[in-house]
Amino acid sequence: MKEQILKIKEEAIKSLESVKDLKEFQEVYSKFLGRKAELNTLIKNLKNLELSERKEIGKLINQTKDFLIKAFENKRKELEKEEKEKIDLTEPENLPLLGVKHPVSLIIEEIVDIFRSLGFKIEEGKEIDTEFYNFTALNIPSEHPSRDVFDTFYLDLPLQNNYRWLLRSHTSPSQIHILKRKQLPARFISPGRVYRPENLDASHSFMFHQIEGFYVDKDVKFSHLKGVLNLFAKKLFGKNTETRFRPHYFPFTEPSVEMDVSCFFCSKKGCSVCKKTGFIEILGAGLIHPNVLKACGINPKKWSGFAFGLGIERIAMLKFKISDIRYFTDNDIRFLNSFV
Ligand code: FA5
Repeated sequence: MKEQILKIKEEAIKSLESVKDLKEFQEVYSKFLGRKAELNTLIKNLKNLELSERKEIGKLINQTKDFLIKAFENKRKELEKEEKEKIDLTEPENLPLLGVKHPVSLIIEEIVDIFRSLGFKIEEGKEIDTEFYNFTALNIPSEHPSRDVFDTFYLDLPLQNNYRWLLRSHTSPSQIHILKRKQLPARFISPGRVYRPENLDASHSFMFHQIEGFYVDKDVKFSHLKGVLNLFAKKLFGKNTETRFRPHYFPFTEPSVEMDVSCFFCSKKGCSVCKKTGFIEILGAGLIHPNVLKACGINPKKWSGFAFGLGIERIAMLKFKISDIRYFTDNDIRFLNSFV
């Protein structure tokens, strides 16, 4: 019987050594230490032995059992540790949330890249500016309604050269800041935030983004403006995009136009986005008014230029099919994550 016990012990140790995972461990454990294990049968049979032998064998069985219990316990801990360290690729990931680029940033980057490839430099203007840069230097008359407190956020700060401080209502003041340096020719685009006291609705926000673009050189003509904007529209909306220029009025450009692009939702057939016209307005533009060049100390007889300004949120709404401008500022993580 002694030999039988030692054989069981040896066999158990051998089997335990070859166990590779907790499932196999459980099988081997049941075999050697479970209710139906051979050692338990031997214990049951002790009663058939002589008293002296019963004591000796009983002791050996108990020692063997204790030994095996310890060995099995150590192996179990080892296997559990290994199991924890294993990476299960099918487990749902539980990573911390990573930041994603806001759709407005995505569009700004795309537009900036297009103009950079056309040789434009990038310079951000100032969000807090004065009436001089936002209106006067841009040939906007003192009685113009856009100067009204209902159309511009004025700041309660001491005047600068008799001009009030304000939150810029468009990115056009960037033209003045850059052109006043008189480093010509100049070819710039200037993205940034602008502010207007608007009633919020699906397409109007009181804070939104614009991109200003302008080019001043000798002999800049309307055909240059059309060429650059046509190319831009095709790069941004696709090569089959058509453009349409309609006469418009801006005090700082003459002539002034609004540019429409052919509707890329319905391919000009007419839909709810283009209000059945086949075209969508995306920007204002024109040749820089001579008074604007003069305000920057540039001689309009020697130099001419074009300028344009577009609203980023409206472009992002078209490109990403977003129905309401308020989504951009709601900070809903589900909305933001859809641009990953
Ligand atoms: C201007 O702001 C001119 N400075 C643009 C310009 C620059 C014209 C250079 C000529 C030369 P306008 O007010 O139309 O123009 O605004 C330009 C664009 O800003 C609009 O086409 C529209 O896309 C966007 N925009 C205007 N108001 C809002 C608003 N409340 N919310 C969101 N986007 C707006």
